[in-house]
Amino acid sequence: MKLKVLLAAAAAAALAVPFASVAQTAPDGEALFNARCKMCHEPAMSGAPDKAKMATMAHAQLVSVLTDGAMAAMSDGMSAEEKAAVATFLTKGAPAPAADAAAPAAATAAPAAEHQH
Ligand code: HEC
Repeated sequence: MKLKVLLAAAAAAALAVPFASVAQTAPDGEALFNARCKMCHEPAMSGAPDKAKMATMAHAQLVSVLTDGAMAAMSDGMSAEEKAAVATFLTKGAPAPAADAAAPAAATAAPAAEHQH
């Protein structure tokens, strides 16, 4: 009897884990950029930085521009993971400081809680 309870608990835990990993699947930063940013940024409209310019910006700075900076309205409706994915797409290839490499992981871990509401 006790064993059955344990097995049920293990099964529930096993179900919960794949669900969490599905929720954390990294969004496609390139597709998001093409759908939401490209029309103004590649080629860049007047005043807007182009892709090469944005590649020189720090990952965290890009996320902050999208979260509460100049592009907050443009990224309306995007999740924190999606903003991080766009920033990762824009900065990839650029030399990333160690702290920067950890940022996307932290950014995907935090919003997972939101998805469980
Ligand atoms: C409707 C056109 C438009 C769209 C869509 C748009 N942008 Fe912009 N973006 C601009 C313009 C214009 C500026 C420059 C003016 C400003 O900074 O307010 C700018 C500025 C920026 C900057 C620099 C801001 C700063 O403070 O240095 C970044 C980074 C940026 N955009 C990223 C993005 C990303 C990523 C997306 C897609 C989620 C996006 N933009 C979507 C027009 C757009």
